[in-house]
Amino acid sequence: MAAERALPSPLAHYDPADLLDALATGIVVLDAQLCVIYANVAAQHLLAMSFNLARGRPYADLFAESNGMIATLKRARDEGDIFSEREVTVRPQATPRESRVLDITITPLEGQMTGTHLLVELSDETQRTRLTRESEQRARLEGSRMMTRQLAHEIKNPLGGLRGAAQLLERQLADPAQREYTTVIINEADRLTALVDTMAGPMRAPQRLPMNVHEICEHVYHLLRAEARSAVVVDRDYDPSVPEGPFDRNQVVQALLNIARNALQAVGDRGHITLRTRVLGNAHIGLERHRLAVRIDVEDDGPGVPETIRGSLFYPLVTGRANGTGLGLAVAQEIITRNGGAIEFRSEPGRTVFSILLPLESGESQP
Ligand SMILES: Nc1ncnc2c1ncn2[C@@H]1O[C@H](COP(=O)(O)OP(=O)(O)O)[C@@H](O)[C@H]1O
Ligand SMILES: [Mg+2]
Repeated sequence: MAAERALPSPLAHYDPADLLDALATGIVVLDAQLCVIYANVAAQHLLAMSFNLARGRPYADLFAESNGMIATLKRARDEGDIFSEREVTVRPQATPRESRVLDITITPLEGQMTGTHLLVELSDETQRTRLTRESEQRARLEGSRMMTRQLAHEIKNPLGGLRGAAQLLERQLADPAQREYTTVIINEADRLTALVDTMAGPMRAPQRLPMNVHEICEHVYHLLRAEARSAVVVDRDYDPSVPEGPFDRNQVVQALLNIARNALQAVGDRGHITLRTRVLGNAHIGLERHRLAVRIDVEDDGPGVPETIRGSLFYPLVTGRANGTGLGLAVAQEIITRNGGAIEFRSEPGRTVFSILLPLESGESQP
């Protein structure tokens, strides 16, 4: 052990251990065998383990998953260099289901008689990375929405010209049998225009009126019942305590219907779909926190969202179906975002849940 040194005078009245415990950064000191000889309070929180339990344990045993951190520790010890790694996802042994994102700095402490010790700084970035990822995702979606709108605009103008020209041509045709061709042009132009209109999303600003969300759900439920095959069961599981909220009825119906129709298509000839509502207190929607929000779930027991499109599901034109347009979710997302909400989904074979989150009152931005 190095000789005890007094702290520089402004700090002379403090116990070094108290100072370390006051840090928000987790500090762990390891011996040459990478066993814990010290952990401050922040580190004990991060690892969900008291110092008494952690003391003497191999550092590797503190994690269910440490994502290469142990190899980095060995390199720092063997090469005597400082190593820093950002955004390492780990799962502490004590809470193996909960992953945390850490920025890690490892500093070798030379001159130990028992070999090189390591000072490990663990800074918890879990919350920050989650928020950054979400806002990056939002920025990408926003970019793709803008591109879609521009593209839609560029396509619509010449389409109008094309349709007009076909109509003029139709009048000039001597042989009525040839009208078949102009009809094809006009119909296809109309189909493309409708497609492009959907793609560009609803341009109308939401007009929110107070109403119960179940009025919207019931409307969608009845449409769904009418469209469902006979062996498809549609259930309702409403939370009667959901208070009224300001909703743009038509827009929310459209979004919910797009999601519900996907569920119908996913289950095919037979299956189970549940429309569920829940009231949420203190809900995070995007970067805002709302005291009250409602969650509308559409759950189905179909095969689940194909693995290959999970990351891009909400982009326009992304589809997993042979005759899909890939617009349903893009439009739903656009609508719900405009209404201050968000759409989330979880999917595994046999259980897929798409959730619409909508605020029931205005939120407060997070710092
Ligand atoms: N409930 C669901 N179960 C399985 N896959 C789904 C579900 N909802 C959406 N998907 C997948 O997402 C794709 C995109 O959906 P969407 O944007 O509505 O476009 P489309 O329905 O025209 O394909 C679907 O083609 C499907 O592969
Ligand atoms: Mg769809």
